[in-house]
Amino acid sequence: MQGNGVRETTALVVVPSKNRGAYTVVASSRSRVEWKGAIAGNGGEGPVEVVEKWSGVSSVRVVDGMEVECRGSSDVEMVVRGRGSRLHAIVIDRIVDGIDVVMEMDAIVCLGGVTVNEAGVAFGDAGTLCAKWHAHTTNTHLGGSVCGNLRYQIRPELCTQAWCKFMEILSTYSVVDLKSKKLNSVHLCEAPGSFITCLNHFLFTHGFTGKWQWMASTLNPYYEGNNLGNMIADDRFIRATLPHWQFCDGTGDLLDKNNCNHLCKTTHNMEIPKLVTADGSIDCQNNPSMQESIVSQLHYCETFAALKLLGKGGSFVIKFFTMFENNTIGLMYLLVKFFEQVNVFKPATSKAGNSEVYVVCLNFLGLKVCPQEDFLTNLECLIFNQSTFDGDIWNMSSVPPSFIEEHINCCRLFHSLQQSAIQRNLSLFKEIPEGYHYKRLNVLRDRCFRDYMSHYKISPLQNGSTVVNAHDKYVYGKTFQSINFQYKHEGSFAERMDNLNLSWRDRLKLIDVSKYKPTNDYAFVMKDASRKRLAKNNLKFLSGKPLSVIRNSRLCNPKLIELLNGILDNCDLTNTNDDFDQEVIADLSTTMQRLFTGHCSSICCLAEDFDFFSKLQIQDLKIFGREEENKSHQQLTLIVNVTSPTTLLGKGEILDKMLLLTKVSFALQKLKADDNLLLLTHSFLTRFSAGLLLLAYDCFQKIAIFPTPCAGTLKQLVLLSDFTSCPGYIAKYLQVLVQTYERHGSSQERDVLEIVPMKILNKDVEFFSELMKSNENLLKCFIFTKLNWEKEHV
Ligand SMILES: C[S@@+](CC[C@H](N)C(=O)[O-])C[C@H]1O[C@@H](n2cnc3c(N)ncnc32)[C@H](O)[C@@H]1O
Repeated sequence: MQGNGVRETTALVVVPSKNRGAYTVVASSRSRVEWKGAIAGNGGEGPVEVVEKWSGVSSVRVVDGMEVECRGSSDVEMVVRGRGSRLHAIVIDRIVDGIDVVMEMDAIVCLGGVTVNEAGVAFGDAGTLCAKWHAHTTNTHLGGSVCGNLRYQIRPELCTQAWCKFMEILSTYSVVDLKSKKLNSVHLCEAPGSFITCLNHFLFTHGFTGKWQWMASTLNPYYEGNNLGNMIADDRFIRATLPHWQFCDGTGDLLDKNNCNHLCKTTHNMEIPKLVTADGSIDCQNNPSMQESIVSQLHYCETFAALKLLGKGGSFVIKFFTMFENNTIGLMYLLVKFFEQVNVFKPATSKAGNSEVYVVCLNFLGLKVCPQEDFLTNLECLIFNQSTFDGDIWNMSSVPPSFIEEHINCCRLFHSLQQSAIQRNLSLFKEIPEGYHYKRLNVLRDRCFRDYMSHYKISPLQNGSTVVNAHDKYVYGKTFQSINFQYKHEGSFAERMDNLNLSWRDRLKLIDVSKYKPTNDYAFVMKDASRKRLAKNNLKFLSGKPLSVIRNSRLCNPKLIELLNGILDNCDLTNTNDDFDQEVIADLSTTMQRLFTGHCSSICCLAEDFDFFSKLQIQDLKIFGREEENKSHQQLTLIVNVTSPTTLLGKGEILDKMLLLTKVSFALQKLKADDNLLLLTHSFLTRFSAGLLLLAYDCFQKIAIFPTPCAGTLKQLVLLSDFTSCPGYIAKYLQVLVQTYERHGSSQERDVLEIVPMKILNKDVEFFSELMKSNENLLKCFIFTKLNWEKEHV
């Protein structure tokens, strides 16, 4: 496909053939532009051959006996035959948005995809077209104004599109028993948490008088190793309801067997759940044609957890997308076995043009319905291994043909509804002149909202009935950009694909380095004597999966972290300049001298740091012995290097955390009133180091972080000045942390991740935002220096 078209999604059908694994596929596209598709046998199951070319095919090529590539102009149809249980079809040509492959199995017919670039309008570049198309489909979405109107008129708690969809599900099916005395619910893959606030709203406004308890889990927005693209980083609700969230090894990843089992165990503290929801999705925008197979494993894990958690008679609501592949057929078959009723539902507030549906399973029959006693153990073995997972949990020949037929009919129904919605969008796109205000559509959208209100009997919540009580509600307002932190894809699909395929060198050429120019005169200084110190009961730590890479941080713009990781992965990080070490030393030396000018304190360092600091020509630098008592009456400035010279660049904050902990903890025990502590440190992107810095700052009057004196090193100077005292509970806590750290040290499986609870860290707004600025400045310094060097030399 050339240039600036937009293709909307459609389908991919792969079902087992009656002919013992042999399949016949028709790939077809209704687009009137050049089309190129690939059909690949999966798992080396045998060659594929092109049997017939029906129409529109200009060329066909079988690649390595396993993959068919076809090029055609319009209505491309061909028959491909092969052997095996699974097949994938993907469009491999440039697509702006969505996928454009439809396949037919034996006698199963699915319709083709649609393309808008034949509309004959001058769209300009693909990015503009994409933006126009998205705005257009938002305007044509009849249920699209429900969320905004609800927010304005009813003010539900955390009202999002997911809230509106779940309200439809709860109001349409008997998902919960409103007459029961108790309801326990578990919500999987749930950030930001609207299913929970929606359930609360529904229960209160529909006469439920029993006791409701809930638990939730999701990819932890605070775990710095989680990829921002896979999770929802909005933590407003999570932050206010933290004890209800179970993040297991700290990641919250449900694809991990131990996490999943741990989650099921912890919920045993509450009574058996009668409702499990699973709204998991994975960002597939760079690989839209594989969406169904990409999310398949997550769907299995969600279902596994639901089977383990649910009590008899309970309900399970899970989000699906297309349901054409074997994996999904197998999963649907599993659900049908375990639940009395399985419904596939598309809420009106879910965009009609996408393939999202919810599978609403009612009346759980219990695990005994499956004759195999160890069914769950077998399932566990099959689904949690990412490298071997193939979703083949049944012998497909044992799945009754009548079930498959019903499944296909279901797929057809939703496919044709989706197709009509896309076609409507297309014709409106062509008809509606630029600048048109969608007035007529707005009338329909308003009517849709009124219908939604009356059909689902929506009324406002009474005061005091929200999940987060009024006292804690203020947290909603203070988001620390949590919403802006949501990872957004930029540009069109084709542009993103082009970027992904670019070499580092070519990508480098496109980067505007000037955007990363650091603010040289920036220094984070805080001096707040009235600041509320950390209370004793605030000091709780969390351990979990050790971090190997920092992929996101609440304390930095994610784009900077992404670029930093790109540089660390692609650039030559050995000193690119012979004089580099000298420059670093000179820079550090100048900064320190600037800092100490006018100070009359005596300057000391630890014996192990003496060689390093003595290079900085600090006058009268003395050694402070580890056993030594600080009896001097003169003010002391202890300078400490918490960066190990052997640590790999970019890994410092993770690898040197023990050094930071032990040296800071030592200093806090030794310093006397009015003394200062100067640290040469790495960044403070993790909860661990940010928390430790906050703890240390509690013992001083002032803190200052200076723009890095040595830009290519990712190191910085932190001056904590005018020591007040280190309260006994802080000293003890640090000691416990050191011991815990030492215990974990050898295990490789656990590490201390958080030492000041996120809720407390979040509350110190000024500290939090200043630390964020200083992190960003540090990263910019590094990125700016490195990229300029690369541009000049590579
Ligand atoms: C569409 S959102 C859920 C919205 C939620 N139901 C609500 O109403 O606010 C999808 C969620 O799936 C989560 N998720 C994706 N992969 C996951 C995984 N492997 N383990 C746990 N959660 C996952 C994401 O973090 C995200 O929060």
